[in-house]
Amino acid sequence: MENSTTPLRVGLTAQRAPAANTLVIFGATGDLTQRKLLPALFDLFCDHKLPAQFSVVGFARREKADAGFRGEMRASVQQFARHKPDAAAELWEKFAQGLFYHQAEFGDADGYARLAQRLAQLDGARGTQGNRLFYLSTAPEYYAQIVAQLQAANLVQPEGAWERVIIEKPFGADLATARELNRRVLAVFDEAQMYRIDHYLGKETVQNILAFRFANTILEPLWNRNYVDHVQITAAETVGVEDRGGYYETAGALRDMVQSHLVQLVALTAMEPPVSFDATAVHDEKVKLMRAICPLEGREVDTRVVRGQYGAGQGVVGYRDEARVAKDSRTETYVALKLEIANWRWAGVPFYVRTGKRLPKRVTEIRIEFKPVPHPLFSDEAVSGVEPNVISIRIQPDEGIHWKFAAKQPGQAIRLSNVKMDFYYQESFGGAPGEAYETLLLDAMRGDSTLFNRKDEVEVAWSLITPVLERWEQVAPPAFPNYAAGTWGPESADLLLARDEHTWRAPG
Ligand code: BG6
Repeated sequence: MENSTTPLRVGLTAQRAPAANTLVIFGATGDLTQRKLLPALFDLFCDHKLPAQFSVVGFARREKADAGFRGEMRASVQQFARHKPDAAAELWEKFAQGLFYHQAEFGDADGYARLAQRLAQLDGARGTQGNRLFYLSTAPEYYAQIVAQLQAANLVQPEGAWERVIIEKPFGADLATARELNRRVLAVFDEAQMYRIDHYLGKETVQNILAFRFANTILEPLWNRNYVDHVQITAAETVGVEDRGGYYETAGALRDMVQSHLVQLVALTAMEPPVSFDATAVHDEKVKLMRAICPLEGREVDTRVVRGQYGAGQGVVGYRDEARVAKDSRTETYVALKLEIANWRWAGVPFYVRTGKRLPKRVTEIRIEFKPVPHPLFSDEAVSGVEPNVISIRIQPDEGIHWKFAAKQPGQAIRLSNVKMDFYYQESFGGAPGEAYETLLLDAMRGDSTLFNRKDEVEVAWSLITPVLERWEQVAPPAFPNYAAGTWGPESADLLLARDEHTWRAPG
């Protein structure tokens, strides 16, 4: 169905365009800029969502002229954006006139002084009014240095304008480094100017968790330990580490996915209703929930957290044979854990969380598994094969929500079956949900930090993860590799649930 004719899209309001600004991307020759940021910006431009006075300055170490940068960005946008420069050549030309490249080392004070001059020139030439959004998309070790250099070059307090800084994940490598980074960045910017990104929060379906839970009356009475048996959250990827072996060796799945995206999914699924939908109220409730997650420490880590690393399988190499990965690497590419939440709503309800690379299917899903009925009304034969209710929230792909329940099969005999009610974004709203980075870039330009991480949120998430990392330092990993590419992870992940008489459900 065409968007324009989809009844559910009628009345979708256009949000106000952000104020004029210049976006400075540090690490502009990197993967994220090419695959996500520039494509998102061009799509926003084509959809008339960017301000009329807008420019992008790519800041990176390689020598390059503006023209060369524009050419490279055109190729990436052609590959990754919804709107294609080949088909929309005029629009691309107009957009590209606002694209600039600035070569400098991240630690070179003179490079920032030149940047300041260049930005001032652009303000005059393109009417960007001195407003600046700095996007740190470099290797994380440069973040604090870049922020200090921005301050030294007087780029942080131009009169009468605003500056904000977006910081990519990973924000720190453990609790101590995250705290230190917060301290150093907050010495230059206020919390209100800081936008710590977790791109999952920009996904429509992730935002919809709150809409689903708090805009519908019928769920709230069921959403607790009285009715929910357990929760399974899966973020499975079919890709391996691709060309990010160098970074991944220092991260691993626990830091790369669990500390950020998966802790956020747990928080959104389990948090209490905020008093309003403003940034502070939402962050307060998320942090409260995260603080209620029981930390996994010491020996508990051995029984509640499973780590895996993929070996060769289905025609692809194992992790240890990927580029820039050590032949004896101990880095995990898979994690499964059992979390418990110590509060009135969730006490005793396990939250099983798993993520991995080179799994059989790309799917992110939250499954709320309800308890069986309290009293069996129908014969064993009639209900044979019937399972308790499940609500599954499909984050991606095939974004939607599914409800499984029992129904009587047609016929004279009483026999029940599992049936499903489905909501698909694509079907209801006529079009796949937009790209997370479009939402997040626009929100930062508008000054709305609801979908970004607050200081305490990042630190609490690290406080949950750090004891696991510490334990893993002390205890040798299982014999890696322990799962073959294309399978659902190590056997020990199945045992983790089997101990509670549960099984992982393959996302449908
Ligand atoms: C990133 C991780 O944050 O999220 C990657 O660094 C991972 O390793 C990616 O592949 C997954 O994001 P998405 O949006 O494809 O689920």
